[in-house]
Amino acid sequence: MHMLKERGDRQILPSEITPQTVYRDRRRLLQGLGLALTGTALAGPASAQTSARPGKLPALAATRSPLPGALTMEKTTPYNDASTYNNFYEFGTDKADPARYAGTLKPRPWTVAVEGEVKKPGNYDLDALLKLSAMEERIYRLRCVEGWSMVIPWVGWSLAELIKRVEPTGNAKFVQFVTLADRAQMPGLNSSVLEWPYVEGLRIDEAMHPLTLLAFGMYGEVLPNQNGAPLRLVVPWKYGFKSGKSIVKIRFVDKQPKTSWEEAAASEYGFYSNVNPKVDHPRWSQATERRIGEDGLFTKKRPTLMFNGYEAQVGQLYAGMDLKKFY
Ligand code: MTE
Repeated sequence: MHMLKERGDRQILPSEITPQTVYRDRRRLLQGLGLALTGTALAGPASAQTSARPGKLPALAATRSPLPGALTMEKTTPYNDASTYNNFYEFGTDKADPARYAGTLKPRPWTVAVEGEVKKPGNYDLDALLKLSAMEERIYRLRCVEGWSMVIPWVGWSLAELIKRVEPTGNAKFVQFVTLADRAQMPGLNSSVLEWPYVEGLRIDEAMHPLTLLAFGMYGEVLPNQNGAPLRLVVPWKYGFKSGKSIVKIRFVDKQPKTSWEEAAASEYGFYSNVNPKVDHPRWSQATERRIGEDGLFTKKRPTLMFNGYEAQVGQLYAGMDLKKFY
């Protein structure tokens, strides 16, 4: 994730800013796949199964969300950009890797286990989840901690719909999201760049916020594998890495759970990870961002907004908290 950084106008190569162990591991990963390391991205078309062509995947009908803040008026990112520039380390660490290798992911059959501090734990089949609540289209900005952003029309429903149905107990203070870790489907698991499975977490009130979306689709179709099929989280006011892809388990817990990025580099990635332009990443500023598909390398970057522009909707969740301490 922390692979790309800029200093002045010069693009820094991953090898220059990535810890040596991670970089060597990544090199081994690519060599293992029989590929040569060619810098930030590998050339070549995406695999046939995951072609970034809209109209190829099944449609997923939705009505536009009535929620305040759910439909940004900003121009949406072209589908081709949103589906070929991804972070999904289970398929490799280069942005092009998920589109190229996620064809091996089998999004069906799929079950999500709900466990922990709930009165109604259980296993939910994907088809049951698809029908659990009315599908809405939400046009959200997604801002990556690396300094790029996209605007994506997601399809899904508020995670709160599921949470209400499973009836959390009074001990459910946090929610942990566990994503798929299957070596047979995910070549990136051979790398130790992160501990697998990829896990993320939210405070229960963050998880219950109506803007927190359990997404099953984007651009009116089911999710392409590389974007987290068959279901993922989208938490628009937090850095993209809080939005776990290909979720298999939702666990309600009483203590703040560890997350994959905290495990990997606690000084760089805190539990909250709210978009906050005033808190720099230890190795780069978070004050500005580049919009994928629109802003070229030499275009002046646009200012990053507090809570990624969702302050009016979510600011009160953090009233009284020192957001420099809880980064
Ligand atoms: N989920 C899993 N399982 N594995 C990952 O590597 N990367 C995260 C997040 N979810 C990641 C993940 C990061 S760093 C980002 S920025 C977003 O997914 C990217 O989502 P997108 O591909 O839809 O843009």
